[in-house]
Amino acid sequence: MKIFLDTAELDEIRVAARWGVLDGVTTNPSLFAKVGGSYDGVLREICGITAGPVSAEVVAESVDGMLHEGRHFARLAPNIVVKVPMSEEGLEAIARLKAEGIRTNCTLIFSANQGLLASKAGASLLSPFIGRLDDVNANGMDVVRELVGIVKAHGLASEVLVASIRNPRHVAEAALAGAHIATVPHKVLRQMIHHPLADTGILQFRKDWDTVRAPGHHRVSARAVQPERVTPKPNAAMSGQTRHGGRDVAR
Ligand code: G3P
Repeated sequence: MKIFLDTAELDEIRVAARWGVLDGVTTNPSLFAKVGGSYDGVLREICGITAGPVSAEVVAESVDGMLHEGRHFARLAPNIVVKVPMSEEGLEAIARLKAEGIRTNCTLIFSANQGLLASKAGASLLSPFIGRLDDVNANGMDVVRELVGIVKAHGLASEVLVASIRNPRHVAEAALAGAHIATVPHKVLRQMIHHPLADTGILQFRKDWDTVRAPGHHRVSARAVQPERVTPKPNAAMSGQTRHGGRDVAR
């Protein structure tokens, strides 16, 4: 399963890229609002950090508006994927952008049927929002399982991108469900790295290593392994050998 970062924060994206786990990035107007500046500028910078797909979301509600924004984003970099919301207008925009060779990510998917329609319209990526479903007492992962099942059973060209992920368990379950991609907030990515036993294990190894290498500890150890001095036995002395440290040593 590929891992995307769900953020517009450049530093978070750089860090994930350095960790060697970054396959792409998703952004949306809310994530961009936390960063500010120019959306185009931020998108160009992100596309310079990762060669993977970078989702840029349209905010227009009309088909023409979505097409206008989508074409604009697609010109910014070759790895831009235009994010289009699930709606009647969105489906039409997805179909028309597909006809122009522009890849799309259908966002705000909350049911397997919505995902099926987005795939038929030509979306490359299907984004079910699992956290928001869980928030309203539904089971977001059920939608992921159904959608993955449909895509695989019918050999559809789209990939299921699990979005609105809130915790590391969501990621493991998305992978087990066979999702193609999980897009995760930076916080969740860090939670996936850390485990209390791994963290304390690292500290303990370091502590033991430092203890054994401490100068005082070394001298004590050296004394402890000093060979025992043994008085030569008369017969050994006569034969020209002496017992030293438990070994026969020729004089
Ligand atoms: O990229 C969109 C999605 O991941 C939103 O997540 O936490 O706002 O539901 P959230």
